[in-house]
Amino acid sequence: MALYSEKVMDHFRNPRNVGVIENADGIGEVGNAKCGDIMKIYLKIDNDIITDVKFETFGCGSAIASSSMATELIKGKPVCEALALTNKAVAEALDGLPAHKLHCSVLAEEAIKAALKDYYDKNNIAYDAAIFPDCASCGHCSSENDG
Ligand code: FES
Repeated sequence: MALYSEKVMDHFRNPRNVGVIENADGIGEVGNAKCGDIMKIYLKIDNDIITDVKFETFGCGSAIASSSMATELIKGKPVCEALALTNKAVAEALDGLPAHKLHCSVLAEEAIKAALKDYYDKNNIAYDAAIFPDCASCGHCSSENDG
């Protein structure tokens, strides 16, 4: 039985949207304390639409595949849709991840949320802190860890 789906292998071998966006409107960096993997997402947002998204991931194959798929899922979409993206949706779009690799897709969800929070903060856009519940408690975001 194959451990990884074809889609996971495809996005791992040929990740989409790898790189950096200069002057990004939002940047989110998160890490998983246990495995040490780090994911950084860059967003370009115009009129509430995510016009471009890039990522850098220093981590396992599932984390790279999850980042790649997550960027594909939010590119061209409104901010609110990106906010609603769950790690479950990322894993499903990859035709599943092994149970012990599900946390890799969580990293993708958290990185996107962190980038959107950065976008809101940079632009002084008011938001309900409840939409970023993890940011208050998880401590994954490097910005939260600074200082
Ligand atoms: Fe750490 Fe996959 S093992 S993100």
